[in-house]
Amino acid sequence: MPPALQRIDPGIIPQRKLFTGATMPAIGLGTFGSDHVTGAQIAQAVRGAAAVGYRHFDCASVYGNEKEIGVALEEIQRTGIRREELWITSKLWNDKHSDVVASCRQSLSDLRLKYLDLYLVHWPFPNFHPPGCDVSSRSSDAKPYIHENYMRTWREMERLVDLGLVRHIGTSNMTIAKLKLLLADARIKPAVNEMELHPHFQQPELFQFVEQNGMRAVGYCPIGSPGRPERDRTPEDTAPTEDPVIVEIARRHGIHPAVVCIKWAVQRGQTPIPFSVNHYYANLAGVAGPALSSDEMRAIAGLDRNCRLIKGQVFLWKPGQTWEALWDTNGEITPP
Ligand SMILES: NC(=O)c1ccc[n+]([C@@H]2O[C@H](COP(=O)([O-])OP(=O)(O)OC[C@H]3O[C@@H](n4cnc5c(N)ncnc54)[C@H](OP(=O)(O)O)[C@@H]3O)[C@@H](O)[C@H]2O)c1
Repeated sequence: MPPALQRIDPGIIPQRKLFTGATMPAIGLGTFGSDHVTGAQIAQAVRGAAAVGYRHFDCASVYGNEKEIGVALEEIQRTGIRREELWITSKLWNDKHSDVVASCRQSLSDLRLKYLDLYLVHWPFPNFHPPGCDVSSRSSDAKPYIHENYMRTWREMERLVDLGLVRHIGTSNMTIAKLKLLLADARIKPAVNEMELHPHFQQPELFQFVEQNGMRAVGYCPIGSPGRPERDRTPEDTAPTEDPVIVEIARRHGIHPAVVCIKWAVQRGQTPIPFSVNHYYANLAGVAGPALSSDEMRAIAGLDRNCRLIKGQVFLWKPGQTWEALWDTNGEITPP
């Protein structure tokens, strides 16, 4: 547990400006318990994180803990932290693409909030699969990306802004090809794309595309998700925290390799959302601490291995497909 009295002034944490002029803290706390950390433990981490200076929390209905986190958020505001100082994200789950307003209202009620700062479409694929299912599981209603359907969902996302239920809307797990279509058709454009980003998976083209098109890149699994569920592990996966270059930079700074990953992410310009119930103070302190040198930043830029950890196999819609089909790797949306 973090030392109780240590605290970082939230005012010194870098902020990301969004196209609306709003600002979002450049580090948030992830809240997905990866099937082994309970909602109660995570809610406790949310309380602790707010006490040490976090103001940004990345939630989702599918994490199954928004009710517990809601109690924590209410308590946090009772300690004197105002709602406007907090940045709360939630996400629309895949089986609710046709039920956007009701799903958002449910998250608001569970989180005990009047509005969300950001609401994301969690995945561009509208499939139902049971929580915790194995990657070999295929749903009979699995569908490819159909832009017309996505736009139907997006129109409802836009309605959430009109209704004052959310301040910003955004995407997650998108590709350049899909984002191009959305940007062409959106009335309210996405403020953020949430995507996997860590030193072994830097996604330079997508990262640049997102930032150059007025969106901000929020990076999930910023440490390489060492606690991710077994179902999300394959033999080819690598661990950025074990990379000798990261380990050496960590040794030089006297910090954990995980903290090097977080510092690199913030300095690169993305917004990492590390999950942690035990190390959240160290991660925030790392962001507030001395910068990595430009040589160190360059060395980490050279470590990219194009190693995607969260492959999304459960969304595959045709027998014989491999997960690459989900990510439009040849630059075009994979046809049905
Ligand atoms: N949009 C999406 O589709 C999507 C997908 C995946 C994840 N996410 C979001 O991204 C968040 C982060 O991803 P993630 O949870 O998969 O992985 P992660 O943040 O890369 O890794 C979390 C793991 O790292 C450990 N850790 C954190 N800081 C550490 C430190 N300083 N030293 C040592 N170990 C440390 C944590 O352990 P302790 O708890 O013991 O500190 C935990 O086991 C999720 O919680 C979720 O909010 C979104």
